[in-house]
Amino acid sequence: MNKSEKLEEVRLSIIKEMVCPLKDSARNLVFGKGNPDAKIMFIGEAPGEKEDELGMPFVGAAGRELDKLLNIIGLTIDDVYIANILKYRPPNNRDPTKEEIYRHTPYLIEQIKIINPKIICTLGNYATKFILASFNVEKMKTIPGITKLHGKLKEIQIGSNIVKVIPLYHPAAMLYNPVLRTIIEKDFIEIKEILEIDKVS
Ligand code: URA
Repeated sequence: MNKSEKLEEVRLSIIKEMVCPLKDSARNLVFGKGNPDAKIMFIGEAPGEKEDELGMPFVGAAGRELDKLLNIIGLTIDDVYIANILKYRPPNNRDPTKEEIYRHTPYLIEQIKIINPKIICTLGNYATKFILASFNVEKMKTIPGITKLHGKLKEIQIGSNIVKVIPLYHPAAMLYNPVLRTIIEKDFIEIKEILEIDKVS
């Protein structure tokens, strides 16, 4: 089975097996998009209104910002894979609950294991805490917030692989905050540098 086929199995298992009230309130499953063979994976928080409508992650205002940021460092959606912590939209875009994180993230972990990225970029607090807690929901509260961690290169172990993690502010945060825009753009340049170092080593 190739990576796309394995991902499709995970997508179908969410539809068939996952138990969560968000399934009833949301319109569509928002699973993931991009290149299953990507070296770099982005992880966001949860689908918003547009994502819920179209069944695709990062297709609304935050998605347009993410596309621009990727372009700055010479990447497109074809170079990356993008998924979220939550697979269905929380009503009114409220924060994910702990229970929802427990229910949804086993599928995200499957996605990460299939993609097998060298670098994971986490967008915002929830993704950053979940990944840096090495997928342990209870340990998320011990991880500092994104204000402290953004742009700092970290590593986690997934199976026998060491995976680089770059925490980033969520692109939605820069929509109305020009200061954050500058910070996020600077952090993206860091991604480019790390990708270049990886290429030569
Ligand atoms: N914000 C996210 O975290 N994910 C999306 O898919 C869209 C907006």
